[in-house]
Amino acid sequence: MAKQGLFITFEGPEGSGKTTHSKLLVEFLRENGYKVLHTREPGGTSISEKIRKILLDPENKDMDVVCEMLLYMAARAQIINEKILPALKKGHIVICDRFIDATVAYQGYAGGLDVGIIKNIGKLATKGVWPALTFLLDIDAGKGLLRAGRDKDRIEKRSLAYHNKVRKGYLSIARKDSRRVKIITALGDITETQEKIREAMLKYINFKI
Ligand code: TMP
Repeated sequence: MAKQGLFITFEGPEGSGKTTHSKLLVEFLRENGYKVLHTREPGGTSISEKIRKILLDPENKDMDVVCEMLLYMAARAQIINEKILPALKKGHIVICDRFIDATVAYQGYAGGLDVGIIKNIGKLATKGVWPALTFLLDIDAGKGLLRAGRDKDRIEKRSLAYHNKVRKGYLSIARKDSRRVKIITALGDITETQEKIREAMLKYINFKI
């Protein structure tokens, strides 16, 4: 378990703008002198990016949901060991686009796998590393999918019903863990949304660092 550093994650349904907002937050923190590792899941290491390609390839449409969940966990185990833990041990801030909440929402709530089992396997993959703060960028699943564009990957191609379950899953995670997970409405103006994220972030840093 990391003793130092600060681990922040961004989550949300497809097209919620988490990549844009995490980038803006990283720029802001770096401008203010913080050392920040910005990364994403699945991905962020050479091995994990290869696993990402398999997971998102529309040709792999017959992938079993257990295989899918274990591949997300495999990619996670690698990035935890290779990038996230070392950065946290150096006292850096780590900002990751998606983490284990995504597995709970997508493969658990939407995919039908037992959430308890996902969390147990997650303990092995994450070595107990858990985000201190999570920004859940909330958006209507249909509107988000429209933003995701036409060239959809294997997961984006799934039905609106699936993506509605993902959103409900995320909201339920946020309800159960409201101290950690901050719900940010994603449809508003980018500057205003980013302002809310920065405020919550600074409040947290002032308390904890
Ligand atoms: P991204 O589009 O946010 O980069 O994420 C890639 C896709 O993988 C996205 O559709 C969400 C999905 N995903 C899962 O289904 N389970 C997971 O554990 C993670 C991290 C992502």
